[in-house]
Amino acid sequence: MEQAVDKHKQHQFHHHTREFWSSRIALILAMAGNAIGLGNFLRFPVKAAQNGGGAFMIPYFIALVFLGIPLLWVEWAMGRFGGRYRHGTTPGIFYRMWNNRFIKYVGAIGVVMPVIICIYYNYIESWTLSYSFFSLFNKYTGVTTREGMGTFLASYQGRVPSEYFSNIWTAYAFFVLTLAINVYVLRKGVVKGIEVLAKWGLPLLFFFGVILVIRVFTLGTPDPAYPDRNILNGLAYMWNPDFSRLKDSSCWLAAAGQIFFTLSVGFGAIQTYASYLKEKDDVALSGLSACSLNEFAEVILGGSIAIPVAIAFFGLSETQAIAKGGAFDLGFQALPIVFQKLHFGSIFGFLWFFLLFIAGITSSVALSQPAMAFLQDELRMPLKKAANLVGAVLFIGGTMVVFFLRYGFLDELDFWAGTVGLVAFAFIETVLFAWIFGMDKGWHEINLGADINLSRIFYYIIKYVTPLYLLVLLVTWFCQDGIAVLFMKGVPQENVPYLWGARALMAALLITGFVLIKLAWKQHREAGRLP
Ligand code: PHE
Repeated sequence: MEQAVDKHKQHQFHHHTREFWSSRIALILAMAGNAIGLGNFLRFPVKAAQNGGGAFMIPYFIALVFLGIPLLWVEWAMGRFGGRYRHGTTPGIFYRMWNNRFIKYVGAIGVVMPVIICIYYNYIESWTLSYSFFSLFNKYTGVTTREGMGTFLASYQGRVPSEYFSNIWTAYAFFVLTLAINVYVLRKGVVKGIEVLAKWGLPLLFFFGVILVIRVFTLGTPDPAYPDRNILNGLAYMWNPDFSRLKDSSCWLAAAGQIFFTLSVGFGAIQTYASYLKEKDDVALSGLSACSLNEFAEVILGGSIAIPVAIAFFGLSETQAIAKGGAFDLGFQALPIVFQKLHFGSIFGFLWFFLLFIAGITSSVALSQPAMAFLQDELRMPLKKAANLVGAVLFIGGTMVVFFLRYGFLDELDFWAGTVGLVAFAFIETVLFAWIFGMDKGWHEINLGADINLSRIFYYIIKYVTPLYLLVLLVTWFCQDGIAVLFMKGVPQENVPYLWGARALMAALLITGFVLIKLAWKQHREAGRLP
């Protein structure tokens, strides 16, 4: 009997095969799909507008070179390294990098944090899906003021009833639909699901993006009564460097935060995708290629649509006022008004929102995949069961986000996971990689199978500059915003229980992560899979 059980276990172990990307182009498209998301088209233009356009771009590019690209190489190398030991997530990867009993629990952050972000990311993604229908079927036609579109959005979200929506159920239905599409893709696995989605989605996204940019560039001066409201001034705002705001630390923080968010670094999601590489596949050039596609989508496409259009139609000061309203106002409130003024506006509206949906879904599956890989690699759960379980967690968390949106539930999750959490996690990772695993071994990993020669300067950047930069960011960030958020300063009294609810949700997920890691390692030990 004992033997039979043992046999069965061995059998299971040997049959636990992991997938690999089917080609290099598939890998790069999937990684680009991971990185290119709502961050590129909604968050980037708003952050740029809030921080002075041309002033923002200087710290942005500095953060790209000293934080973004080095961290990409670190995470790609870590992921491929973990894949060699059949670990696709940071608990296992950290464990193999440093034989320490506790480090695998630190790695839990790299599984739980993307789940937390995915919980609210899916909801915003579902707005893009519904708005593409609203555009196509002229649901917002006739709403021609910013206030009007604001009411439209708020009533869609169930904040205030209006003639457009009397309750939240439309939004909830689109959320459930979006989640179902996500789970459908996850249930097909890496090659048949994620890869196929990226192979179709990314070319379509670039195609839509280019059409929109061409349309924007030919807008000229839409209203002759305001000659300075034109496309050239819109582009000039983004591209004329402005050195006066560089003394402002919040501009540097926003730029670095944007680099993290857009490149998907510091989350744990890149490692999982990279774990499906073969042992000697290049990471240096592929990582750089995916990064270039992301930057093209962000600064060229993302930077040429929302801001210049808004400036051409509303003027600079009004555009900045819209951007102050929040990360989504520009995309969901200002642009629908503009589209209505164009010929074939409903088509352009559809292209814009459907582009956002494609960008969103190729990122939300990437946010779910660490949890998928953890269940499959560490707990030996079958693919479909893992997808159902992840879907159920996203459904429960997402339902809270939908119904508690107006109490700041989403913002609380976004602050801890989407803003502070990833910088902290990136710091831990870099120190582990460069100082505990060791920079010589690390540099070897990055260069193994590389198709380009990396300058040795990056050896020193990864070892000294990146961790120091991260530490400074973390400390400044915490002093500037962290304390106020921690103690809920200025929060309306009625929101307080919901914010505690958001924290309890995050804590519960993290504790679940710890328990599952403990269980998984016990099973690994019994099966003789540990060194
Ligand atoms: N990079 C994505 C965006 O720009 C967000 C994301 C982060 C996706 C982490 C996957 C993992 O929207």
